[in-house]
Amino acid sequence: MDRRPIGVFDSGLGGLTAVRELARLMPEEELVYFGDTGRVPYGGRSRDILVKYARQDAALLRSFDVKAIVIACGTVSTTALGVLRAENDIPIFGVVEPAVHAALRATRNGRVGLIGTRASIRSGAYERLLAQGRPGVEVTARACPLLVPLVENGRFRPGDTVAETVAAEYLAPIREAGVDTLILGCTHYPLLREVIGRYMGPDTALVDVGAECARWTAAELDRAGLRTDRAQAGRHRFFVSDSTEDFASLASVFLREDVEGEVEQIDITAY
Ligand code: DGL
Repeated sequence: MDRRPIGVFDSGLGGLTAVRELARLMPEEELVYFGDTGRVPYGGRSRDILVKYARQDAALLRSFDVKAIVIACGTVSTTALGVLRAENDIPIFGVVEPAVHAALRATRNGRVGLIGTRASIRSGAYERLLAQGRPGVEVTARACPLLVPLVENGRFRPGDTVAETVAAEYLAPIREAGVDTLILGCTHYPLLREVIGRYMGPDTALVDVGAECARWTAAELDRAGLRTDRAQAGRHRFFVSDSTEDFASLASVFLREDVEGEVEQIDITAY
């Protein structure tokens, strides 16, 4: 039993798609979320910079004495999970392993599509684990650098011609490869679920990495005896590195409900 909060971070607001599922599965847990809104997007940055940012993000969360950290970001999970695990003595959960397990459960024909940021695709992290789990699996991967800015600017709804055109261009080779499962390898992408689902067709299973990571985290905390014994709803606190001004309205889009909890701006460079 452990009453300390769970820390969650992302480059921006995409990680709230994981928070939503964490709060649904474990309403009594306290959550501390950090979105690095002053430095988003992470997806085009080098490994060295990403490791530096990841260390600062984890240090901020650890200042709240969290019992575990969820890296609700495909980019950091693919690039800096090993570093954070080596440097921290609490459980650190990333999105790659849970997403790969879900994809291997879902695929029938052994052809899996993968979309993510440039850094995530460059890392090869998903492909390595997919091949370990099912030798011979065929992976068609595509970096989609324009999708995060589209989502952050609210351009993700079906009927939005820009979102549909960009998604179709990225997804064409993946659909042609005949995949039956597509990993949405970035926590921003679930907002484009309908646009992507319509293009790929009803027979393609879509894997939401943030939600899979939340389920994995809940199961692992249970197994390790680290769940709280509190009966009432846990407090949720949100921290961002840019102004908090638009946070509530933007965050409610990712959470699909109003944000309940305090929002504060912090200086991440001090960590
Ligand atoms: N939400 C993040 C991810 O899952 C990254 C977006 C970005 O900052 O480029 O990869």
